[in-house]
Amino acid sequence: MKQAFRTLLLMTAACLLAMGAGSAAAPSAQALMQKHACLSCHTLHGQGQAAAPVLDMVGNRRSHAWIRRWLADPPALKPGTLMPKFPLTPQDLDVLATYLASLRQPVDGARILASRRDPVQTGRALFDAYQCLACHRIGRVGRFVGPDLEHLASRRTVTGARWSAAWEERWLADPQAVKPGTFMPTFGLSPAEIRAVVSYLATLK
Ligand code: HEC
Ligand code: HEC
Repeated sequence: MKQAFRTLLLMTAACLLAMGAGSAAAPSAQALMQKHACLSCHTLHGQGQAAAPVLDMVGNRRSHAWIRRWLADPPALKPGTLMPKFPLTPQDLDVLATYLASLRQPVDGARILASRRDPVQTGRALFDAYQCLACHRIGRVGRFVGPDLEHLASRRTVTGARWSAAWEERWLADPQAVKPGTFMPTFGLSPAEIRAVVSYLATLK
């Protein structure tokens, strides 16, 4: 009995030591982001710079696997990107990808669709809720990671086609199908959400 108790104590102590060692060896996502100065380009929680996407909702538009692949070698996914390849260990990549994929905010698309009559206003509300301006710009607000959308509906699109509601619906449903390899994320919007966003984008002339 006494022997069993001692063994249990020893095992508990070993466990606690191992846990302690584990957390000391694994840097937190915050420490890694500070070390590599991610916010010298990105914005998160209102801090940082405007040269790269706002990361507050990155988990809504990118999967853990995508983020891990991106961080491992950004130029491999987007040749010519400003984002450098950082010396990150596999463990660093896991920690960062887990943290960034957790940066999600619930968007109640059904409620937004139900709460407004005017499709243009509904589309604008969805555009804001999904933080399209994390990468795009309209007028003087937003970023230059994606194209400026100010005159979108009266010019040629990124595929060279003239803008049309039909083009836009296909683009928002599956950008990769329209332009393979594009950096524009797939948001998984419902068909009703897409129609509303397109009504709003059609006003950008
Ligand atoms: C020198 C500027 C710069 C630094 C530093 C930088 N990034 Fe980026 N990052 C970018 C740019 C620019 C993009 C968008 C891709 C493009 O347009 O080339 C991007 C894209 C991303 C994306 C994808 C965002 C999305 O919405 O799809 C993630 C995630 C990301 N960076 C994380 C990080 C992390 C984590 C660090 C630090 C380890 C970091 N970045 C450091 C410039 C930077
Ligand atoms: C992570 C950054 C990012 C986010 C967030 C983003 N986009 Fe984009 N978007 C891009 C990039 C980059 C392109 C250009 C793609 C290309 O040329 O391959 C693009 C292209 C577009 C285009 C075509 C523009 C043109 O000039 O033809 C439209 C329209 C568009 N996005 C709408 C949206 C909407 C609506 C949202 C929100 C639901 C959104 N984007 C969110 C990066 C982003």
